[in-house]
Amino acid sequence: MEFNAKSRSPRGKTSRLSRRQRIVLSAVVGVVVIVAILGLGLGLGLKNRGGGGGPAATATSSPSPAPIPSAIWEPKAGTSWQIILNSVLDIDPESPSVEPDVEVYDIDMFMHQNTQVIPSLHKLGKKVICYFSAGSYEPNRPDSDRFPQKDMGRVLDGWPDEKWINISSPAILQIMAGRVEIASRMGCDGIDPDNVDGYQNDNDLDLTSLDSIGLMTFLADEAHKRNMSIGLKNAGDIVKTMLPRMQFAVNEQCAEYKACSIFSPFVRADKPVFHIEYPDGAPFRIGATEKDESCNAPGAKDFSTVLKSLDLSGEVQFCDGRKQTTKTFQ
Ligand SMILES: *[C@@H]1O[C@H](CO)[C@@H](O)[C@H](O)[C@H]1NC(C)=O
Ligand SMILES: *[C@@H]1O[C@H](CO)[C@@H](O)[C@H](O)[C@H]1NC(C)=O
Repeated sequence: MEFNAKSRSPRGKTSRLSRRQRIVLSAVVGVVVIVAILGLGLGLGLKNRGGGGGPAATATSSPSPAPIPSAIWEPKAGTSWQIILNSVLDIDPESPSVEPDVEVYDIDMFMHQNTQVIPSLHKLGKKVICYFSAGSYEPNRPDSDRFPQKDMGRVLDGWPDEKWINISSPAILQIMAGRVEIASRMGCDGIDPDNVDGYQNDNDLDLTSLDSIGLMTFLADEAHKRNMSIGLKNAGDIVKTMLPRMQFAVNEQCAEYKACSIFSPFVRADKPVFHIEYPDGAPFRIGATEKDESCNAPGAKDFSTVLKSLDLSGEVQFCDGRKQTTKTFQ
């Protein structure tokens, strides 16, 4: 069992500058990008609905997305959750219990392989979202040796071992399909593929938002055909295009960057935005002003907000003031 999965703090810290830049960039080019991808979005939308097969559907060269099966888990806006990515949950499989009593747990997939955590959470009536990186190479994952050198780009800021990857490369897509299959075998109800917004970062691979749309469309099909749901992580520029294929969003720091309204189309479609803020003093010593800014941000109405430290440990504060700690192995 691997307990050394990366703490996310360095990336969270170093990404702040680039995320600020992204927001400005989004404001400037957002409309252009949306117009540019609208044609593709329409094409996908028509194809998604089956029956639409008119000229627009054949105009795009993207592979046809599979229909979304009715058996998948479709959470509602406002669904409660907890996210822990730095450690393995400590739950006794013989007599399971867990805190906090939320509807959904988002946990690191690879760390929980060969554990009974997911069946235990299911016994408690929880749904489980499995996190993995879909857009970066990390060492020390079971499939790390499958990543071709030619598909690796720049090192992630603050992560000397982690590299952006060419998410349009067939070899990379095959690796990611393998990860979705692992999630399926583990019994995950949904997947949370991270680092799908390489186009917003210096990556040395010329990644564009169209590459991200291609990856997310591919991952959605892989998840859906295994009766799993999927969420869009950050990547505000592709919300409108991907919303019909997504069952939820996972967002970091939209309140801090005053960008929550970019993600509110999800709640308007009655799909949750699982929202994390990292205010100073989080999780347990947050000032009143910081808490208000994190919990009552414009555009974040009905988001599922959790206040966490950057390492995404078991400690969480909710906007109603509850402070709770999920027991984990450390
Ligand atoms: C990424 O992969 C695609 C598909 O194989 C290829 O066309 C593209 O040139 C690759 N990009 C880089 C920077 O190697
Ligand atoms: C998905 O769920 C449906 C309905 O329960 C079932 O018929 C189908 O076999 C499932 N598919 C997979 C791959 O588990």
